Amino acid sequence: MSRESRVAVITGASSGIGRELAYELARRGDRLVLGARRMDKLQEVTQMCLKLGGRALAVQTDVSVQAQVDALVTTALDNFGQLDLMVNNAGRGLFSRVQETTSQQMRSIFDVNFFGVFYGCLAAIPVMLAQKQGHIMNVASVVGKRGTPYHGAYSATKFAVIGLTESMRVELKPHNIHVTAICPALTETEFFETSERGSAAKRSFAKLRRMMPAADVARKMADIVGKDKPQIVFTFGGKLLAAMATLLPRATDAMMARYFVDISQQIEQDSRTPATQPVQSK
Ligand SMILES: NC(=O)c1ccc[n+]([C@@H]2O[C@H](COP(=O)([O-])OP(=O)(O)OC[C@H]3O[C@@H](n4cnc5c(N)ncnc54)[C@H](OP(=O)(O)O)[C@@H]3O)[C@@H](O)[C@H]2O)c1
Repeated sequence: MSRESRVAVITGASSGIGRELAYELARRGDRLVLGARRMDKLQEVTQMCLKLGGRALAVQTDVSVQAQVDALVTTALDNFGQLDLMVNNAGRGLFSRVQETTSQQMRSIFDVNFFGVFYGCLAAIPVMLAQKQGHIMNVASVVGKRGTPYHGAYSATKFAVIGLTESMRVELKPHNIHVTAICPALTETEFFETSERGSAAKRSFAKLRRMMPAADVARKMADIVGKDKPQIVFTFGGKLLAAMATLLPRATDAMMARYFVDISQQIEQDSRTPATQPVQSK
């Protein structure tokens, strides 16, 4: 993959990890096509990318609509003639016990977190096969390695993303296409503000560990573009959780039980003071 010629598509580039990745790739001189629903935010990101030395186009995209994800990739081809990197990053959270999760909520989060990724892969793969090269990064999560309480639906979407990614990785390797699962740990972004009950979860998580800056996740992602990296699991704690989930499931359950009590208390506290609750679901 020649350094000068890189073209990247990033979904969910209007904030958080996607936005920081756009900035990082722009600093490295890449040409970008950025997708998200909030056009105003996306335009701000493209302006900043230009200042940082990249070229960037904004395309309003809801990743749960396949035709809109196709259009994102088509924009890259029409304007820049190729696609070197596809980053399926857009996602959202939901903090809800499984017993209180409705089938509508479950379908809705799968539409974005799983089908959005799947559509991105379907759009990118034929282009990369024709080019005989490319890199697809699917953003999953550490909770795609181990389910956590109040995260059943979200974890399920991320397990699904990892499964899809692992299958694709083997299928596409003979075609010189790299496929990487990105598993961030707690990262400081808008994620908790825009997820249902996210503020309660954030207070609970804050007791466990410090959040990573989104720029650190983005830098690591930018560093591995074009490299054969199966998976990046962020932080020592994230790697430990993934290993414990396999080797010590009961001990992991006991650890999670303490968190379950704490987050339940935080949610209960928010439900008693709804006026101060800043959470808004998208
Ligand atoms: N923050 C964490 O602790 C953490 C940890 C592990 C994994 N992750 C994952 O990292 C990825 C990025 O999240 P983040 O932490 O950077 O959160 P964020 O700041 O809330 O960013 C989420 C991005 O996804 C976009 N998005 C949401 N729904 C969309 C839809 N239907 N269509 C298109 N774009 C959509 C949002 O843009 P619009 O609202 O403008 O559409 C936004 O740009 C997600 O997949 C998330 O699950 C985050």
